[in-house]
Amino acid sequence: MKDIYILGIESSCDETSFSIVKNGTDEIATVISSQIDIHKKYGGVVPEIASRAHIKNITFVLEECLEKANMKMEDIDAIAVTYGPGLIGSLLVGVECAKTLAYLYNKPLVPVHHISGHIYANNLIKRLEFPLIALVISGGHTELIYMQKDYDFQKLGGTLDDAVGECYDKVGRVINVEYPGGPVIDRLATVGSHTYDLPIPLNDDSYNFSFSGLKSAVINLAHNEAQRGHELNKEDLAKSFQDVVVETLTKKTMKAIKEYQVKNFILAGGVAANKGIRSKFQELCEENKINYTFPSIKYSTDNAAMIASSGYYAYILGRRADLTLNPVSSVELK
Ligand code: KG4
Ligand code: ZN
Repeated sequence: MKDIYILGIESSCDETSFSIVKNGTDEIATVISSQIDIHKKYGGVVPEIASRAHIKNITFVLEECLEKANMKMEDIDAIAVTYGPGLIGSLLVGVECAKTLAYLYNKPLVPVHHISGHIYANNLIKRLEFPLIALVISGGHTELIYMQKDYDFQKLGGTLDDAVGECYDKVGRVINVEYPGGPVIDRLATVGSHTYDLPIPLNDDSYNFSFSGLKSAVINLAHNEAQRGHELNKEDLAKSFQDVVVETLTKKTMKAIKEYQVKNFILAGGVAANKGIRSKFQELCEENKINYTFPSIKYSTDNAAMIASSGYYAYILGRRADLTLNPVSSVELK
């Protein structure tokens, strides 16, 4: 069979990225231009600044990716682009770029859902095996998904309010660490002890999550400690917080794995880079003889390699968009 090369484009938040992936599994070249340093001083992503930075970077990142792959646009079989969900101005830059390339080079245009990209980041490590349960944890999402085959996404539950990554970043602000707080809290937790008492949120039988209560509990704790003239121990708070997050995520995920009788589990999304979450899932999966795959740390957060991988299966299934494709800030995974 002829090899299929997909050019992936990702610009849904603050990373401008292009990647070329062969046959859905073999990464040829990827370039990611992160805007974290630009947004750091504001303590979060500023949408207007993000879209402008994408516009400034996009052609350079494309050129660098083609150069790295030693390929030309003519060698590409299809263009896969994140059309949503995400920041609308940021998405627009990637989608317009994809449409222009598709028109200029007469290539098929394949729309990719950002979350399916995060799921398929695992496909670059090892071909997905079905049926599986995927836990998607990122700055904007917290979802448990059941898949029986490629592109068959059944949502079992999700967050009712804040996403896990959002909660990490907000707790990061409370303890005054730089944006994004997630990786910093993860680091602090490795040297802290579980000394603070925080509630396990939405501790019920559903597959839904809630993180706004946990965030408020951390804010209240910080206020109370300040009023008492106590200094907050950042490492201990990080460890106490992370333990609660790990307990919440693993409990519901392992329940889904048992109920749906699957033997395969994958983690996905930016928060999948978290060491505490990885090590607990590894321990539980080994104990219960469940095959598990985690995305590489590099491709846990936003990148175009995952979009190109997911785009390959969308392409094979005949999913296409025409030049009227518009980005959408909020859209269900399908
Ligand atoms: O997937 P992603 O790049 O963007 C979204 O699609 O949302 O995820 C970014 C999120 C941020 O909230 C960041 O703090 C979090 O992933 N994150 C982490 C870690 N690395 C990134 N959270 C906890 N521990 C980490 N090691
Ligand atoms: Zn993402």
